[in-house]
Amino acid sequence: MKNKEIFVTRPCMPPLNEFVKYLERIWDNKILTNNGELHQQLESELASYLGVKYISLFSNGTLGLISALQALNISGEVITTPFSFVATTHSLWWNKIKPVFVDIEPDYLNIDPAKIEAAITSKTTAIMPVHVYGNPCRYEEIEKIARRHNLKVIYDAAHAFGVSVNGNSILNMGDLSVLSFHATKVFSTIEGGAIVSHSQEMKHHIDNLKNFGFRGETVVEEPGINAKMNEVQAAYGLLQLKYVDGFIEKRKIITESYRAKLQNTKGIRMIGDMEGVRHGYSYFPILIDESLYGINRNELYEKLKTYNIFSRRYFYPLISEFEPYRDLPSASRNNLPNAIEASEKVLCLPIYVELKEEEIELICKLINDFKK
Ligand SMILES: Cc1ncc(COP(=O)(O)O)c(C=O)c1O
Repeated sequence: MKNKEIFVTRPCMPPLNEFVKYLERIWDNKILTNNGELHQQLESELASYLGVKYISLFSNGTLGLISALQALNISGEVITTPFSFVATTHSLWWNKIKPVFVDIEPDYLNIDPAKIEAAITSKTTAIMPVHVYGNPCRYEEIEKIARRHNLKVIYDAAHAFGVSVNGNSILNMGDLSVLSFHATKVFSTIEGGAIVSHSQEMKHHIDNLKNFGFRGETVVEEPGINAKMNEVQAAYGLLQLKYVDGFIEKRKIITESYRAKLQNTKGIRMIGDMEGVRHGYSYFPILIDESLYGINRNELYEKLKTYNIFSRRYFYPLISEFEPYRDLPSASRNNLPNAIEASEKVLCLPIYVELKEEEIELICKLINDFKK
């Protein structure tokens, strides 16, 4: 008999009765969106939970990325990583910016700062790195390069909820950081996202941009967009926030359980914790070395599927291999050897709060049994 389907992720939903109380409040107030009281409360609770000064909620992370580029008036070329979810690069395309792909480092799979300077041209205006799987980028080196060349830095921090280095949130790095609160993320508002900024003026600017560019009732200062989060989602977020420390703790336990069960499996590489970092354990990636493990990543992915285990190949294909970007000079495979290798080897195993120890045991037993 086949086991129940195990997906790479499942949302962890707050108790329904607690959510209903918020819905009753919304039904009484009859304020559904446009910076309502729950929206304001979520912004202030998130800022204090995350340890950041200014946060602007968005209806999703992609509109957050697009608006962050608008807020800083970015144009020309932006240096970014091909090893990410496609929205990172799409946000550049929507701003008519040319993406310039730079290779990643093999250890944490983030953009390699040592390769950034060679990609800078007279048209470069910014760097958009991604904290892949929530592992912080080498932000000190990135800041130095940005300062030297007068570039802005916008972090795609979609995976990095709750991540800090020596007690300081990584969202405080760079000019702006963008979070995603999609249903698959550690902290969710079903769909949603946010931009973290570092001044009151910038937060105002961003808040106007996501509300059509209105400044007051009759003045439109710039062509903004509609990217507002509504009150129902803000309520969901307030409840998620109440439970998120427990979610992260549970994800840590799952991560440690996987690590213990796979540590002796030849050909399976795992990514360890970084010193001084509080992780969010948003994903559990493994990298499969066919020469040691005996079968390749795609074979393992397919074999797991036959047992109803649905892992995901994040990030395969690379963004640079998708139709809109593959003809860019920086998308050439010779330019991106580490990213290509990672995208061919990586497999993200199921991780979510309700994943059971027996399920982790089954997944690891199969991975160990499949080894040739
Ligand atoms: C790295 C990365 N950037 C951006 C996004 C887009 O966020 P959203 O789905 O909230 O638009 C996602 C995921 O969804 C992501 O994983």
